Amino acid sequence: MKIEHNHSLQTYNSFGIDVSSRYFSSFNSLQEVEEIIHHQKVLAAPLLVLGGGSNLLFTKDYNGWVIKNGLKGIEVINSDDSFIYVKAMAGENWHSLVMYCVKNGYAGLENLSLIPGNVGASPMQNIGAYGVEIKDVFYELEAYHITDKKLIRFNNQDCAFGYRDSIFKRALKNQYIIISVTFQLRKEPIYNTSYGAIEKELKAMKISTLSIKSISDAVINIRSSKLPDPKKIGNAGSFFKNPVIPTDQFELLKKSFLELPGFKNEEAMKVPAGWLIEQCGWKGFRKGDAGCYDKQALVLVNYGKATGAAIFELSATIIQSVQEKFGITLEREVNII
Ligand code: EPU
Repeated sequence: MKIEHNHSLQTYNSFGIDVSSRYFSSFNSLQEVEEIIHHQKVLAAPLLVLGGGSNLLFTKDYNGWVIKNGLKGIEVINSDDSFIYVKAMAGENWHSLVMYCVKNGYAGLENLSLIPGNVGASPMQNIGAYGVEIKDVFYELEAYHITDKKLIRFNNQDCAFGYRDSIFKRALKNQYIIISVTFQLRKEPIYNTSYGAIEKELKAMKISTLSIKSISDAVINIRSSKLPDPKKIGNAGSFFKNPVIPTDQFELLKKSFLELPGFKNEEAMKVPAGWLIEQCGWKGFRKGDAGCYDKQALVLVNYGKATGAAIFELSATIIQSVQEKFGITLEREVNII
Protein backbone atom coordinates (compact mmCIF):
# COMPACT_ATOMS: atom_id res chain seq x y z
CA MET A 1 0.00 0.00 0.00
CA LYS A 2 1.42 3.35 -1.11
CA ILE A 3 0.87 6.57 0.84
CA GLU A 4 0.98 9.78 -1.22
CA HIS A 5 1.41 13.19 0.39
CA ASN A 6 -0.51 16.37 -0.54
CA HIS A 7 -2.38 14.52 -3.23
CA SER A 8 -4.77 16.37 -5.57
CA LEU A 9 -8.41 15.27 -5.25
CA GLN A 10 -9.67 17.13 -8.32
CA THR A 11 -10.21 14.00 -10.41
CA TYR A 12 -11.63 12.10 -7.42
CA ASN A 13 -14.73 14.25 -6.90
CA SER A 14 -17.43 14.69 -9.53
CA PHE A 15 -17.73 18.41 -8.69
CA GLY A 16 -14.12 18.70 -9.91
CA ILE A 17 -13.13 20.85 -6.93
CA ASP A 18 -9.41 21.53 -6.81
CA VAL A 19 -8.38 20.54 -3.27
CA SER A 20 -5.80 18.14 -1.89
CA SER A 21 -5.53 15.67 0.95
CA ARG A 22 -2.67 15.41 3.42
CA TYR A 23 -2.35 11.67 2.74
CA PHE A 24 -3.87 9.52 0.02
CA SER A 25 -3.96 5.76 -0.65
CA SER A 26 -6.01 3.27 -2.63
CA PHE A 27 -6.96 -0.16 -1.33
CA ASN A 28 -7.61 -3.18 -3.55
CA SER A 29 -7.99 -5.99 -1.02
CA LEU A 30 -9.21 -6.59 2.51
CA GLN A 31 -5.60 -7.06 3.50
CA GLU A 32 -4.83 -3.51 2.37
CA VAL A 33 -7.80 -2.25 4.40
CA GLU A 34 -6.27 -3.92 7.44
CA GLU A 35 -2.86 -2.40 6.70
CA ILE A 36 -4.44 1.06 6.50
CA ILE A 37 -6.30 0.67 9.79
CA HIS A 38 -3.10 -0.58 11.39
CA HIS A 39 -1.07 2.32 10.04
CA GLN A 40 -3.67 4.95 10.94
CA LYS A 41 -2.31 5.19 14.49
CA VAL A 42 1.11 6.10 13.11
CA LEU A 43 -0.23 8.87 10.91
CA ALA A 44 -2.75 10.00 13.54
CA ALA A 45 -4.96 11.34 10.75
CA PRO A 46 -8.74 11.03 10.33
CA LEU A 47 -9.85 8.67 7.54
CA LEU A 48 -12.13 9.56 4.67
CA VAL A 49 -13.28 6.61 2.58
CA LEU A 50 -13.82 7.65 -1.00
CA GLY A 51 -15.94 5.77 -3.53
CA GLY A 52 -16.81 7.48 -6.81
CA GLY A 53 -16.72 10.92 -5.13
CA SER A 54 -20.08 11.75 -6.67
CA ASN A 55 -22.01 12.76 -3.58
CA LEU A 56 -19.64 15.11 -1.81
CA LEU A 57 -18.48 18.70 -1.86
CA PHE A 58 -14.98 19.56 -0.66
CA THR A 59 -14.99 23.07 0.79
CA LYS A 60 -11.30 22.98 1.78
CA ASP A 61 -8.19 20.80 1.64
CA TYR A 62 -8.66 17.57 3.59
CA ASN A 63 -6.32 17.47 6.57
CA GLY A 64 -6.37 13.69 6.91
CA TRP A 65 -6.03 10.44 5.01
CA VAL A 66 -8.25 9.87 1.98
CA ILE A 67 -8.52 6.17 1.14
CA LYS A 68 -9.99 5.26 -2.22
CA ASN A 69 -12.01 2.08 -2.42
CA GLY A 70 -10.63 0.07 -5.33
CA LEU A 71 -12.21 -3.31 -4.51
CA LYS A 72 -13.32 -4.92 -7.77
CA GLY A 73 -15.38 -7.93 -8.82
CA ILE A 74 -18.94 -8.91 -9.72
CA GLU A 75 -20.23 -12.48 -9.37
CA VAL A 76 -23.44 -14.47 -9.16
CA ILE A 77 -23.26 -16.17 -5.77
CA ASN A 78 -26.59 -17.95 -5.62
CA SER A 79 -29.96 -18.44 -7.30
CA ASP A 80 -33.33 -19.97 -6.48
CA ASP A 81 -36.63 -20.35 -8.37
CA SER A 82 -37.30 -16.62 -8.53
CA PHE A 83 -34.07 -14.79 -7.79
CA ILE A 84 -30.43 -14.37 -8.77
CA TYR A 85 -28.06 -13.08 -6.10
CA VAL A 86 -25.37 -10.80 -7.51
CA LYS A 87 -22.49 -9.75 -5.28
CA ALA A 88 -20.53 -6.66 -6.32
CA MET A 89 -17.42 -5.32 -4.64
CA ALA A 90 -17.74 -1.77 -3.32
CA GLY A 91 -15.25 -0.18 -5.73
CA GLU A 92 -17.16 -1.27 -8.85
CA ASN A 93 -18.72 1.50 -10.90
CA TRP A 94 -22.49 1.57 -10.27
CA HIS A 95 -23.59 1.95 -13.89
CA SER A 96 -21.28 -0.90 -15.03
CA LEU A 97 -23.03 -3.17 -12.52
CA VAL A 98 -26.44 -2.09 -13.85
CA MET A 99 -25.31 -2.76 -17.43
CA TYR A 100 -23.97 -6.21 -16.45
CA CYS A 101 -27.36 -7.08 -14.91
CA VAL A 102 -29.37 -5.73 -17.86
CA LYS A 103 -27.20 -7.67 -20.31
CA ASN A 104 -27.65 -10.91 -18.39
CA GLY A 105 -31.40 -10.44 -17.86
CA TYR A 106 -31.22 -9.96 -14.07
CA ALA A 107 -34.08 -7.57 -13.29
CA GLY A 108 -34.39 -4.87 -10.65
CA LEU A 109 -31.63 -2.32 -11.23
CA GLU A 110 -32.71 -1.02 -14.66
CA ASN A 111 -34.49 2.08 -13.29
CA LEU A 112 -31.23 2.99 -11.56
CA SER A 113 -29.22 3.25 -14.80
CA LEU A 114 -26.61 5.97 -15.25
CA ILE A 115 -26.42 7.04 -11.61
CA PRO A 116 -22.84 8.22 -11.07
CA GLY A 117 -20.74 6.71 -8.29
CA ASN A 118 -19.65 3.33 -7.01
CA VAL A 119 -21.45 0.32 -5.56
CA GLY A 120 -20.21 0.95 -2.00
CA ALA A 121 -22.02 4.26 -1.67
CA SER A 122 -25.32 2.93 -3.01
CA PRO A 123 -26.68 1.52 0.27
CA MET A 124 -25.12 4.35 2.29
CA GLN A 125 -27.62 6.85 0.92
CA ASN A 126 -30.18 4.36 -0.42
CA ILE A 127 -29.81 5.74 -3.94
CA GLY A 128 -33.03 6.02 -5.86
CA ALA A 129 -34.48 7.15 -9.15
CA TYR A 130 -37.58 6.73 -11.29
CA GLY A 131 -39.64 4.83 -8.74
CA VAL A 132 -36.97 2.42 -7.42
CA GLU A 133 -34.62 2.59 -4.43
CA ILE A 134 -31.74 0.33 -3.47
CA LYS A 135 -33.74 -1.00 -0.54
CA ASP A 136 -36.14 -2.67 -3.04
CA VAL A 137 -33.39 -4.95 -4.41
CA PHE A 138 -30.86 -5.04 -1.58
CA TYR A 139 -30.07 -8.42 -0.03
CA GLU A 140 -27.06 -7.86 2.23
CA LEU A 141 -23.72 -6.13 2.54
CA GLU A 142 -20.37 -6.79 4.15
CA ALA A 143 -18.66 -3.95 5.99
CA TYR A 144 -15.41 -3.72 7.90
CA HIS A 145 -15.64 -2.28 11.40
CA ILE A 146 -12.74 0.15 11.72
CA THR A 147 -12.10 -0.13 15.46
CA ASP A 148 -13.20 -3.75 16.08
CA LYS A 149 -11.31 -4.85 12.92
CA LYS A 150 -14.07 -7.28 11.96
CA LEU A 151 -16.13 -7.98 8.87
CA ILE A 152 -19.86 -7.69 9.68
CA ARG A 153 -22.90 -8.59 7.54
CA PHE A 154 -25.94 -6.33 7.38
CA ASN A 155 -29.30 -7.42 6.00
CA ASN A 156 -31.99 -5.08 4.65
CA GLN A 157 -33.51 -4.37 8.06
CA ASP A 158 -30.13 -3.78 9.72
CA CYS A 159 -29.46 -0.94 7.26
CA ALA A 160 -32.55 1.04 8.40
CA PHE A 161 -33.07 2.45 4.92
CA GLY A 162 -35.07 5.65 4.46
CA TYR A 163 -35.35 8.30 1.75
CA ARG A 164 -31.68 8.94 0.77
CA ASP A 165 -30.80 7.61 4.20
CA SER A 166 -29.43 4.57 6.07
CA ILE A 167 -27.88 3.64 9.39
CA PHE A 168 -24.44 4.40 7.87
CA LYS A 169 -25.35 8.10 7.64
CA ARG A 170 -26.63 8.12 11.23
CA ALA A 171 -25.89 5.84 14.22
CA LEU A 172 -23.01 4.05 12.46
CA LYS A 173 -21.53 7.07 10.66
CA ASN A 174 -17.77 6.76 9.97
CA GLN A 175 -17.58 3.40 11.74
CA TYR A 176 -17.50 1.02 8.77
CA ILE A 177 -15.91 0.59 5.36
CA ILE A 178 -18.36 -1.03 2.96
CA ILE A 179 -16.67 -3.97 1.25
CA SER A 180 -19.35 -5.62 -0.90
CA VAL A 181 -23.07 -5.44 -1.62
CA THR A 182 -25.32 -8.32 -2.69
CA PHE A 183 -28.50 -7.67 -4.68
CA GLN A 184 -31.52 -9.93 -4.97
CA LEU A 185 -32.60 -9.67 -8.60
CA ARG A 186 -35.55 -11.22 -10.38
CA LYS A 187 -35.45 -13.84 -13.08
CA GLU A 188 -38.92 -12.68 -14.21
CA PRO A 189 -38.94 -8.89 -14.32
CA ILE A 190 -41.57 -6.77 -12.60
CA TYR A 191 -41.50 -3.60 -14.66
CA ASN A 192 -41.74 -0.32 -12.84
CA THR A 193 -42.84 2.43 -15.20
CA SER A 194 -44.94 4.30 -12.61
CA TYR A 195 -42.70 7.37 -12.75
CA GLY A 196 -44.43 9.54 -15.37
CA ALA A 197 -41.35 10.46 -17.38
CA ILE A 198 -40.61 6.77 -18.14
CA GLU A 199 -44.00 6.08 -19.81
CA LYS A 200 -43.60 9.24 -21.85
CA GLU A 201 -40.07 8.35 -22.95
CA LEU A 202 -41.03 4.75 -23.86
CA LYS A 203 -43.78 6.16 -26.06
CA ALA A 204 -41.36 8.57 -27.70
CA MET A 205 -39.00 5.63 -28.30
CA LYS A 206 -41.93 3.71 -29.86
CA ILE A 207 -41.40 0.73 -27.55
CA SER A 208 -44.37 -1.62 -27.66
CA THR A 209 -42.93 -4.66 -25.82
CA LEU A 210 -41.31 -3.83 -22.49
CA SER A 211 -37.95 -5.26 -21.48
CA ILE A 212 -35.43 -4.33 -18.81
CA LYS A 213 -33.19 -3.08 -21.62
CA SER A 214 -35.87 -0.70 -22.94
CA ILE A 215 -36.53 0.67 -19.44
CA SER A 216 -32.80 1.14 -18.90
CA ASP A 217 -32.53 2.93 -22.28
CA ALA A 218 -35.49 5.17 -21.39
CA VAL A 219 -33.93 6.10 -18.05
CA ILE A 220 -30.59 6.81 -19.73
CA ASN A 221 -32.34 9.11 -22.23
CA ILE A 222 -34.23 11.00 -19.52
CA ARG A 223 -31.20 11.41 -17.28
CA SER A 224 -28.98 12.54 -20.16
CA SER A 225 -31.52 15.14 -21.21
CA LYS A 226 -31.88 16.87 -17.84
CA LEU A 227 -28.85 16.01 -15.70
CA PRO A 228 -25.37 17.33 -16.51
CA ASP A 229 -22.64 14.78 -17.29
CA PRO A 230 -20.05 15.21 -14.50
CA LYS A 231 -17.30 14.56 -17.06
CA LYS A 232 -18.32 17.79 -18.79
CA ILE A 233 -19.82 19.95 -16.02
CA GLY A 234 -18.88 19.32 -12.39
CA ASN A 235 -21.85 18.33 -10.19
CA ALA A 236 -23.03 15.82 -7.60
CA GLY A 237 -26.56 15.12 -8.82
CA SER A 238 -29.34 16.43 -6.60
CA PHE A 239 -27.72 18.84 -4.17
CA PHE A 240 -30.79 18.93 -1.89
CA LYS A 241 -33.32 16.36 -0.71
CA ASN A 242 -36.95 16.78 -1.66
CA PRO A 243 -38.53 18.11 1.56
CA VAL A 244 -41.32 16.16 3.24
CA ILE A 245 -43.84 18.46 4.93
CA PRO A 246 -47.03 17.89 6.96
CA THR A 247 -50.21 17.63 4.85
CA ASP A 248 -51.85 20.71 6.50
CA GLN A 249 -48.78 22.83 5.72
CA PHE A 250 -48.98 21.59 2.12
CA GLU A 251 -52.71 22.43 1.87
CA LEU A 252 -52.12 25.90 3.28
CA LEU A 253 -49.24 26.59 0.87
CA LYS A 254 -51.32 25.32 -2.03
CA LYS A 255 -53.78 28.18 -1.38
CA SER A 256 -51.06 30.74 -2.11
CA PHE A 257 -49.17 28.68 -4.71
CA LEU A 258 -51.84 26.95 -6.81
CA GLU A 259 -49.32 25.05 -8.96
CA LEU A 260 -47.36 23.60 -6.00
CA PRO A 261 -46.61 19.94 -6.89
CA GLY A 262 -46.63 17.30 -4.15
CA PHE A 263 -46.59 13.52 -3.79
CA LYS A 264 -48.08 11.58 -0.90
CA ASN A 265 -45.32 10.22 1.31
CA GLU A 266 -46.75 8.06 4.09
CA GLU A 267 -48.80 10.53 6.17
CA ALA A 268 -47.07 13.62 4.75
CA MET A 269 -46.33 15.30 1.39
CA LYS A 270 -43.05 15.27 -0.54
CA VAL A 271 -42.49 18.46 -2.51
CA PRO A 272 -39.98 18.66 -5.41
CA ALA A 273 -37.17 20.93 -4.21
CA GLY A 274 -36.39 21.65 -7.89
CA TRP A 275 -39.77 23.37 -8.25
CA LEU A 276 -39.31 25.47 -5.09
CA ILE A 277 -35.82 26.55 -6.21
CA GLU A 278 -37.03 27.37 -9.71
CA GLN A 279 -39.87 29.50 -8.29
CA CYS A 280 -37.28 31.51 -6.37
CA GLY A 281 -35.61 32.34 -9.69
CA TRP A 282 -32.41 30.31 -9.29
CA LYS A 283 -32.70 27.96 -12.26
CA GLY A 284 -29.89 28.85 -14.69
CA PHE A 285 -28.27 31.27 -12.20
CA ARG A 286 -24.49 31.59 -12.42
CA LYS A 287 -22.00 33.54 -10.36
CA GLY A 288 -18.42 33.03 -11.48
CA ASP A 289 -18.18 29.29 -12.12
CA ALA A 290 -20.75 28.26 -9.49
CA GLY A 291 -24.28 27.81 -10.73
CA CYS A 292 -27.74 26.25 -10.56
CA TYR A 293 -28.25 23.98 -13.59
CA ASP A 294 -30.58 25.37 -16.24
CA LYS A 295 -32.42 22.07 -16.94
CA GLN A 296 -32.85 20.86 -13.33
CA ALA A 297 -32.74 23.38 -10.50
CA LEU A 298 -31.98 20.72 -7.88
CA VAL A 299 -28.47 20.33 -9.29
CA LEU A 300 -25.69 22.78 -8.44
CA VAL A 301 -22.80 22.89 -10.87
CA ASN A 302 -19.16 23.86 -11.20
CA TYR A 303 -18.59 25.30 -14.68
CA GLY A 304 -14.81 25.07 -14.25
CA LYS A 305 -12.89 26.75 -11.47
CA ALA A 306 -15.51 27.26 -8.75
CA THR A 307 -14.34 26.61 -5.22
CA GLY A 308 -16.28 24.30 -2.93
CA ALA A 309 -16.81 27.29 -0.63
CA ALA A 310 -18.48 29.26 -3.47
CA ILE A 311 -20.85 26.36 -4.22
CA PHE A 312 -21.60 25.95 -0.54
CA GLU A 313 -22.32 29.67 -0.26
CA LEU A 314 -24.69 29.48 -3.24
CA SER A 315 -26.49 26.56 -1.59
CA ALA A 316 -26.87 28.57 1.63
CA THR A 317 -28.37 31.51 -0.27
CA ILE A 318 -30.80 29.16 -2.05
CA ILE A 319 -31.85 27.57 1.26
CA GLN A 320 -32.49 31.03 2.69
CA SER A 321 -34.59 32.22 -0.23
CA VAL A 322 -36.72 29.02 -0.29
CA GLN A 323 -37.20 29.46 3.47
CA GLU A 324 -38.32 33.07 3.04
CA LYS A 325 -40.74 32.37 0.18
CA PHE A 326 -42.25 29.03 1.26
CA GLY A 327 -41.32 28.56 4.95
CA ILE A 328 -39.65 25.24 4.01
CA THR A 329 -36.07 24.46 5.06
CA LEU A 330 -34.18 22.53 2.38
CA GLU A 331 -31.71 19.92 3.56
CA ARG A 332 -28.50 19.22 1.63
CA GLU A 333 -28.22 15.72 0.23
CA VAL A 334 -24.54 16.04 -0.66
CA ASN A 335 -21.93 15.44 2.07
CA ILE A 336 -20.06 18.63 2.90
CA ILE A 337 -16.40 18.10 3.78
N1 EPU B 1 -39.13 20.42 -11.03
C1 EPU B 1 -39.25 21.74 -11.43
N2 EPU B 1 -38.12 22.41 -11.80
C2 EPU B 1 -36.90 21.84 -11.82
C3 EPU B 1 -36.78 20.50 -11.42
C4 EPU B 1 -37.90 19.81 -11.03
O1 EPU B 1 -40.33 22.31 -11.43
O2 EPU B 1 -35.94 22.54 -12.18
C5 EPU B 1 -40.34 19.68 -10.58
C6 EPU B 1 -41.29 19.26 -11.66
O3 EPU B 1 -42.58 19.40 -11.10
C7 EPU B 1 -41.01 17.79 -11.85
C8 EPU B 1 -40.66 17.38 -10.44
O4 EPU B 1 -39.95 18.51 -9.92
O5 EPU B 1 -42.11 17.12 -12.31
C9 EPU B 1 -39.79 16.15 -10.34
O6 EPU B 1 -38.58 16.35 -11.08
P1 EPU B 1 -37.63 15.12 -11.45
O7 EPU B 1 -38.42 14.01 -12.04
O8 EPU B 1 -36.48 15.65 -12.23
O9 EPU B 1 -37.17 14.57 -10.06
P2 EPU B 1 -36.67 15.26 -8.72
O10 EPU B 1 -37.69 15.06 -7.67
O11 EPU B 1 -36.23 16.67 -8.99
C10 EPU B 1 -35.57 13.07 -7.80
C11 EPU B 1 -34.23 12.59 -7.31
C12 EPU B 1 -33.27 12.38 -8.47
C13 EPU B 1 -33.88 11.32 -9.39
C14 EPU B 1 -35.25 11.83 -9.86
C15 EPU B 1 -35.98 10.79 -10.67
C16 EPU B 1 -33.99 13.50 -5.06
C17 EPU B 1 -33.27 14.47 -4.19
N3 EPU B 1 -33.68 13.55 -6.35
O12 EPU B 1 -35.38 14.37 -8.39
O13 EPU B 1 -32.06 11.86 -7.94
O14 EPU B 1 -33.04 11.08 -10.50
O15 EPU B 1 -36.09 12.13 -8.72
O16 EPU B 1 -36.42 9.77 -9.83
O17 EPU B 1 -34.79 12.72 -4.57
C18 EPU B 1 -29.85 12.36 -7.17
O18 EPU B 1 -30.19 11.93 -6.08
O19 EPU B 1 -28.68 12.79 -7.39
C19 EPU B 1 -30.83 12.41 -8.26
C20 EPU B 1 -30.55 12.95 -9.44
